[in-house]
Amino acid sequence: MTTLTDKILVLDFGGQYDRLIARRVREQHVFSEVKPYDAVTAREIADGGYSGVIFTGGPNSVTEEGAPRCERAVLETGVPVLGICYGHQLMTYLLGGRIGKAAEAGEYGKVELFSVGGGLFAGVPAKSDCWMSHFDSVTAVPEGFTAIARTAACPCAAMADEKHKLYGVQFHPEVTHTAFGKQILHNFLFNVCGCKGDWNSGDFIAAAVDECREKIGDGRVLCALSGGVDSSVAAALLHRAVGERLVCVFVDHGLLRKNEAETVEKTFRPLLGDNFIRVDAADRFLKRLAGVTEPENKRKAIGEEFIRTFEDVSRTVGTVNYLAQGTIYPDVIESGKGDAATIKSHHNVGGLPSVMAFDGIVEPLRLLFKDEVRAAGRALGLPKELVERQPFPGPGLAIRILGEVTAEKLDILREADAIFREELETAALGSRTAQYFAVLTDSRSVGVKGDARSYGRTVVLRAVTTDDFMTADWARLPYEVLERASSRITDALPEITRVVYDITSKPPATVEWE
Ligand code: XMP
Repeated sequence: MTTLTDKILVLDFGGQYDRLIARRVREQHVFSEVKPYDAVTAREIADGGYSGVIFTGGPNSVTEEGAPRCERAVLETGVPVLGICYGHQLMTYLLGGRIGKAAEAGEYGKVELFSVGGGLFAGVPAKSDCWMSHFDSVTAVPEGFTAIARTAACPCAAMADEKHKLYGVQFHPEVTHTAFGKQILHNFLFNVCGCKGDWNSGDFIAAAVDECREKIGDGRVLCALSGGVDSSVAAALLHRAVGERLVCVFVDHGLLRKNEAETVEKTFRPLLGDNFIRVDAADRFLKRLAGVTEPENKRKAIGEEFIRTFEDVSRTVGTVNYLAQGTIYPDVIESGKGDAATIKSHHNVGGLPSVMAFDGIVEPLRLLFKDEVRAAGRALGLPKELVERQPFPGPGLAIRILGEVTAEKLDILREADAIFREELETAALGSRTAQYFAVLTDSRSVGVKGDARSYGRTVVLRAVTTDDFMTADWARLPYEVLERASSRITDALPEITRVVYDITSKPPATVEWE
């Protein structure tokens, strides 16, 4: 079994940057995973093979009742710990230091940091910028610690107990506004935790292939292939692991984009031969979606229908023991982590029916961020067009049609979406825009078409830039591109009288409309 040499545990105390911290660690080629603060014990950390632990920030005051706290024993396992912001204060609190208000109004934004050299600050100038967002401060360090950095308002902007390898920083090294944040994390990972920095997608593939083989044994796997990046990489990985014991089923649920089903077939049939099964299930899904208007209900309905369809297909392909899915890390965390609210139940997680006819589920990409999935796809030798394809949600166009999904609405949206995508790609903007698509709203508005007054539908164009889909910015598309898309859509589709462009970022919006 291939194992990861180094791994870092990011213990989440409710901060908004937990995933960013995990990413920053992985960017330095050290594997990291995020767990809620109360999901792991000190013993599990001591025995879990972790090279280090990072406490995240969080919105609470550590001294208030009910504030999220881990056991003090987590700091006594001998595994190095770096506390960030709330994590820094928690470390102080647990080890007997004092927390108070160093400055009346706290510190927010870019602040000048004065630090001592060496250790955590090796390679960092004595004076640099850092990013602060705090109200409470450490006013007395715990026994054994020394303050190693300060700002004008915060006498303990960083502290260290070198002997026990415990470190705390009040500022956020994970955000780019902290000029030497990367260096500080590097120092913690490499100098303190002794990481080697040898995590890469190649390692991941070897480890995942071994893991899949071990789990699947002599069994057969049915893979839900949508033709998107995630399920394609999952399928390629499973093919490497179990070869002909992998059967890929492509359910054409009728909620795909224009010509997509044909492209999927053209790509995978030559690769998988008879082990590629295409199911035409459009009618079945439309029937199931009739009258369903609430977004979460749509997701659940589609998720259930997917599983039922697979079950039906699996009866025709002999014994199948496992169901494989291309679930990736953001799907897992966004579907509800710890006590955080569920943002959306991504159909591959939240909507999964609890009673299944399979022995289990295989999700080989469960720990990867999107760009890591693409890197794994490249390493597996998948074609560029497929690996770089923009993501498309499992529930498909159903969550881009507000209100009830009907065959007529699907036809309109498919056409509008194809026009918009074509315009963007013609203008060579596709590769600079992470996701771009059309949405069909339920609103009607007045227009004039020909010489007649019309009362047609409104199409929304959405294009976003993002690295990881956790946050996203609306793309500043040239007016000419929007103009061409708009006139082509209204010309081609008599039902459409209005085209609007979505200029909302995530947060507060999400990328999808439902
Ligand atoms: P949101 O809308 O949550 O989207 O900002 C973030 C990314 O996730 C995709 N997405 C989904 N993918 N099932 C999926 O497989 C879903 O239910 C789902 N909802 C959103 C979305 O397209 C974007 O890439």
